[in-house]
Amino acid sequence: MKPDMRVQFAGIEFENPVLAASGTFGYGVEFEDIVSLEKIGGFVTKGISREPMAGNQAPRIIETAAGMMNAIGLQNIGVEAFLGKKLPALRKYPKCAVIVNVFGTHVRDYLDVIQRLNEAEGIAAYELNASCPNTDHGGMTFGTDPIALDELVARAKKVAARPLIVKLSPNVTSIPTMAKCAESAGADALSLVNTFVALSIDVETRRPRIANVTAGLSGPAIKPIAVRMVWEAARSVGIPVIGLGGITTPEDAVEFLLAGATAVQVGTASFADPRAVERIAKGLEAWCQRHHVDRVADLIGTLDCSKPE
Ligand SMILES: Cc1cc2nc3c(=O)[nH]c(=O)nc-3n(C[C@H](O)[C@H](O)[C@H](O)COP(=O)(O)O)c2cc1C
Repeated sequence: MKPDMRVQFAGIEFENPVLAASGTFGYGVEFEDIVSLEKIGGFVTKGISREPMAGNQAPRIIETAAGMMNAIGLQNIGVEAFLGKKLPALRKYPKCAVIVNVFGTHVRDYLDVIQRLNEAEGIAAYELNASCPNTDHGGMTFGTDPIALDELVARAKKVAARPLIVKLSPNVTSIPTMAKCAESAGADALSLVNTFVALSIDVETRRPRIANVTAGLSGPAIKPIAVRMVWEAARSVGIPVIGLGGITTPEDAVEFLLAGATAVQVGTASFADPRAVERIAKGLEAWCQRHHVDRVADLIGTLDCSKPE
């Protein structure tokens, strides 16, 4: 018997719990000839701002021993171009949940983007980017300060006509504090983690390898920290959590589900293998079948921390 791969998430049903992460899957349409969009749970768009953004100066991406560092700086086409040029092409894939990652420099910018998106059809949810480490204002400046996070989430929730997922920064001392803060401000769900602030130095030139100096580390190197943070977040809130950070195999996805995630996102893995999201979604189904798991949802939060006898 085929396992039931559907999961319920903040009022949305995902066909399966494997989604593509923001910034690693374009606006979805760019991947339609590479990945069967109907075979993945959904995807999160690149962070969308009110006006188009050019992003940071190059070099802004490097490979590291077990992942990559990026300081793209939220380059994106802006909300109007997204609605006019990208979203309509996605209506062919009704089973693939489209989640729009929303970015702003000030609270008002986030609200303007959400209000504009509210008018469009074909969007499942919003992911509030309170965690990008690569801009001087906005993003992580909200996600690392409970007072700023509370204000952003509470005001965004008031205007959002769709479920609001708050994407948390891992660059904090206490994930439970930030997770509870987002929940009490009205978040419908959480996603974590975004990238870790990092620095790589070229010792010959004695200069940073990335023009922005610091950049966000992602990929397999961060996975065990991300799993720990997802576990901590899922235990401290009642709302569902999406787990991500370094997932490259179906087994990695299982780890996040056991830690308490209801769904997962795949990011950096798509750079090495553009079909990674679909491969992991299929592999997760095969894993469930091999392990006689009838419903993938039965795995969620079933980590056994009891002492071995
Ligand atoms: C090139 C690149 C661009 C990204 N852009 C965004 C973004 O626009 N918004 C966002 O919330 N996260 C962004 N992220 C973070 C990823 O969505 C994800 O949280 C992070 O990379 C950890 O997952 P991974 O290890 O599977 O990549 C970006 C990551 C990369 C590598």
